[in-house]
Amino acid sequence: MSTNSLKPTVHGIFDRSTWTVTYVVYEKEGGACAIIDSVLDYDPKSGRTRTDSADKVVAFVKEKNLQVAWILETHAHADHLTAAPYLKSKLGGKTAIGDHITTVQSVFKGIFNLEPEFATDGGQFDHLLKDEERFAIGALEARAMYVPGHTPACIAYQIGDAVFVGDTMFMPDVGTARCDFPGGDAKTLYHSVKKILSLPDDTRLFMCHDYPPSDRPVQFETTVGEQRRKNIHVHDGVSEAQFVEMRTKRDATLEMPVLILPAVQVNIRAGDMPPKDANGVAYLKIPVNAL
Ligand SMILES: [Fe+2]
Repeated sequence: MSTNSLKPTVHGIFDRSTWTVTYVVYEKEGGACAIIDSVLDYDPKSGRTRTDSADKVVAFVKEKNLQVAWILETHAHADHLTAAPYLKSKLGGKTAIGDHITTVQSVFKGIFNLEPEFATDGGQFDHLLKDEERFAIGALEARAMYVPGHTPACIAYQIGDAVFVGDTMFMPDVGTARCDFPGGDAKTLYHSVKKILSLPDDTRLFMCHDYPPSDRPVQFETTVGEQRRKNIHVHDGVSEAQFVEMRTKRDATLEMPVLILPAVQVNIRAGDMPPKDANGVAYLKIPVNAL
């Protein structure tokens, strides 16, 4: 690993309608980059998509003259649709997600009664990442870390001194991600969080979302040390049992995300829409009284 690769440049683009941060990670202008957790705008009232958020990513990548090596997902998101296919068509790069996406695909193939041809082998993605797998972003070395709990397929990415934590932790004053989606588990999330927080204190942590309280602006970067001191759900001293009790009680009060039904159906297809009906239109399903 080159010295430069130890501290990559990280550019976050915040999407106000889904509270999601898309990251562009690179060593230097003109070099290779990875895009993490992109957003395809989706209006649930009309069923129409737009690319305003993704176009900000395209503009940034072009401005810095970056070559896209990877388009990464931390997990199959339930709160926004990925723009991976759009970004790939505009910028190139290989799509990747954790290899346990196959479990998520099998579960939701059943829930949505998807077409028999829908493959549950993850083949919609260019690459499936295993735990501790290393891969190159130009001169940067990236490491995939399993961090299940929010979903069974969640991955965090360590790139130099930066870790993209996905839906594990949020900023210290917001806490942690919910664990009540199919395949989620609070005890598992606790251990995933502890795995991330065992890294050196000055490790930079980049959140997948921010849900700021009204008295602070949007923030999405913190450190291991700050999370260990201040995270309201998982600061040092919170036991597994305390965390599981808190998380379970809290999850019971949460509504489903507005976009969970369209988002999951699209994201388990690596961002593609379902096959079109005979009339040339693609449809998303709403299971009634099934979730
Ligand atoms: Fe999520």
